[in-house]
Amino acid sequence: MRTSSGASVLCGLMLAAAVTVTYADGAGIALKGNDRGAPACIACHGAQGEGNAASGFPRLAGLDAGYLQTQMEAFASGKRKNAMMAPIALALDATERKQLADYYSGLGRSISVVKPAVRQADVAAPDSGEPGAHLALKGRWGDGLPACVQCHGSSGAGVGSVFPALAGQSALYIENQLRAWQQGTRAPGPLGLMKVISDKLSADDVRDVAAYFAALPPSRASKGVMP
Ligand code: HEC
Ligand code: HEC
Repeated sequence: MRTSSGASVLCGLMLAAAVTVTYADGAGIALKGNDRGAPACIACHGAQGEGNAASGFPRLAGLDAGYLQTQMEAFASGKRKNAMMAPIALALDATERKQLADYYSGLGRSISVVKPAVRQADVAAPDSGEPGAHLALKGRWGDGLPACVQCHGSSGAGVGSVFPALAGQSALYIENQLRAWQQGTRAPGPLGLMKVISDKLSADDVRDVAAYFAALPPSRASKGVMP
């Protein structure tokens, strides 16, 4: 009796230790990678998940966890094609992808705490009349183009798990994504919305609208429904 309960306690401890070793937490993988070949995320996405604007490595901090997880799955399945992220996503298991998504999503919270001034999820930016601002805030209905903010939130802060934040993403990254949809290397995504929209954008539109969102401060995604 005594021996068997002692053995089961020991067994439980060993199991707990094994689980801890197999599934490092999101912060640990972000910092050091895992033992199956996933590199440290911070090498490209920055120490605080802020991204690297010059290289087109996206901001991950504060993006919705469900969105981040879906994108890692899309890289792993090849639906979203990217030579850097495909092998990395494949080196993560489902639990690790979720832990990393939760970790990066949570980093946004500290941004809001540190800089309350950038919490403006529901405040619309004024239309400066620049072509990028006009497209983002008003769309171009003659071409069947809705305003970007109708789905991405009034200040580009994102809405729920489906519509990611654009505010604070670098211009290069935003341009790369719009071109990826035009060229078919990024899967059309929910309802094929971004493929339809990207196909209607000229090269100038892509540059202008990317510059507009890149200049907005990052802020927490709103959890509400579409504005
Ligand atoms: C060698 C550089 C590099 C490393 C290391 C790296 N990434 Fe990435 N990541 C990229 C690039 C480049 C993209 C954008 C790909 C594209 O343009 O489609 C990206 C995109 C992403 C996206 C999609 C973001 C969005 O807004 O759609 C997620 C999520 C992501 N990475 C997670 C991770 C995680 C988690 C790690 C660590 C396990 C990691 N990355 C490590 C280069 C890297
Ligand atoms: C009708 C809704 C809708 C409108 C309008 C819309 N988007 Fe999107 N957008 C989406 C959805 C849905 C996604 C997520 C796609 C996915 O999961 O692959 C997305 C994703 C994106 C991304 C990828 C962000 C990332 O982190 O990788 C960019 C960039 C983007 N949209 C830019 C724009 C721009 C610029 C406009 C305006 C010209 C616009 N969107 C208008 C629905 C919309």
